Amino acid sequence: MNRPYVICHMLTSVDGKIDGGYMSAPECAEAFAEYASLRKTFDCSATLYGTTTMLGGYSDGLAENIPRCENKIPREDFIAPNDEKNYIVSVDPKGVLGFNSGYIEKKNRPRAHVIEVLLETVSDDYLGYLRNVGVSYIFAGNDSLNCGFMLEKLYRSFGIERLLAAGGGLMNWSLVQDNLVDELSIVIAPAADGNSAAASIFEKADFLPERKPAVFQIKDVRKIGDTVHLQYTVKR
Ligand SMILES: NC(=O)c1ccc[n+]([C@@H]2O[C@H](COP(=O)([O-])OP(=O)(O)OC[C@H]3O[C@@H](n4cnc5c(N)ncnc54)[C@H](OP(=O)(O)O)[C@@H]3O)[C@@H](O)[C@H]2O)c1
Repeated sequence: MNRPYVICHMLTSVDGKIDGGYMSAPECAEAFAEYASLRKTFDCSATLYGTTTMLGGYSDGLAENIPRCENKIPREDFIAPNDEKNYIVSVDPKGVLGFNSGYIEKKNRPRAHVIEVLLETVSDDYLGYLRNVGVSYIFAGNDSLNCGFMLEKLYRSFGIERLLAAGGGLMNWSLVQDNLVDELSIVIAPAADGNSAAASIFEKADFLPERKPAVFQIKDVRKIGDTVHLQYTVKR
């Protein structure tokens, strides 16, 4: 399959949680710094996020009160004019996220062009809205997401050769269970908060079938103060 090399990079508590109160402990600052500096070393031209993660920190909220589109828009991929070779891939199957422009610029991060990953069931209104704000979009399935198809399109249409999958847990598992992750990078912060409701690094969505467990092979282990960095390859 012609697809990007995929590295899943996450920061967790000692009990594998990717969100929660533990993150505000001052003792986690070292882990956050390590997580951020590692991101730059992976040489990836795109970062992929699930809908919840996008909404939590990257999109401009939800798309609300979007104008009606009178025309039927064909379900064909759309590449908006853009001047970046750095991308944020936003998996938004139902087409709910809002954007003020086709670019996302975050502190200490390179400017990135947004590629929305959609199902063909999204409305014409939403497609018209994305075209108007200058967000690119690709279709990755009719009524369910095909992650392999999505990666092939990212490779073919945008030339993405290395992709960082950076959450959340549902999106990470969708990729891992389809054998589409090559490396796993986990920064473990020296804290926990016992919140069983917080998302874990991998979360199987109810609508996905049970698959055999994923198995990993250790590539490197590093200790940075009280923080640990684990690197695995995924065993096929
Ligand atoms: N510690 C870290 O390094 C780190 C990094 C990133 C995020 N996070 C945290 O992770 C949490 C979010 O994780 P999450 O697992 O709840 O959410 P997520 O993976 O960000 O997004 C989940 C949503 O993405 C869509 N989705 C994912 N896989 C899909 C599939 N196979 N088919 C169709 N849709 C799919 C679904 O959207 P619909 O329900 O709309 O269909 C699903 O509800 C946030 O709290 C965030 O702060 C932590």
